[in-house]
Amino acid sequence: MSLDKSQWLDELADGLSEHGWMSFDITPWLGEGLLKSLQAEIIVLDQNDALKSAGIGRGSAPVRDRSIRRDKIAWLQGSTPAQAEIFDFFQSLRLGLNQRLFLGLKRIEAHYATYHCGDFYKPHVDSFQGRASRIVSLVLYLNDHWLPADGGALQIYSRENEDEVCAQVLPEAGRVALFMSEEIRHEVLEAHRTRYSLACWFRQDVIPLPISALL
Ligand code: OGA
Ligand code: MN
Repeated sequence: MSLDKSQWLDELADGLSEHGWMSFDITPWLGEGLLKSLQAEIIVLDQNDALKSAGIGRGSAPVRDRSIRRDKIAWLQGSTPAQAEIFDFFQSLRLGLNQRLFLGLKRIEAHYATYHCGDFYKPHVDSFQGRASRIVSLVLYLNDHWLPADGGALQIYSRENEDEVCAQVLPEAGRVALFMSEEIRHEVLEAHRTRYSLACWFRQDVIPLPISALL
């Protein structure tokens, strides 16, 4: 297979502008080695209990509501070779999408997420109108041999009718879901086995300055 990154970025940009979302296999672009390294990292973090309950909303006091989301997360710092490599890749995506869609994406943030058996994330959008911080969401799945009976699908709702399910994406290793953060309502169905993923958001805002820089 010959790989043309510019052509591939064109396809992603078209998918986002026409449908608001798409799903594809990113393995040819990342390579099996990087996927395995990321998978190994999240498994170790999970075993060491290094992922923490995720909050809802941003601000100073995110609410931890187990009736809405039950995943555990750990922010990537870019501090391991695998994290540095995936950050480079996400930055190339950010630039490629900016060139094609004029989104003015300025930075990325990424976290690992684990859903244990019984965990879910109820329907939501990743960004609220007016806040305009998270613009594009990307979720990379890190699970070998995921079966429909394992649950844990990403369920995507229609842009036109927010109650109509338009697709389900199984969290199989190498698969990616890419969508517009404000527009696409989605949920994670209850997982029946441990489900690993890495989510990245492409944001329009710049890094907040530490208070010390303002004094
Ligand atoms: C999220 C989310 C989807 C998934 O973390 O906001 O919706 O498939 N994740 O893990
Ligand atoms: Mn989400």
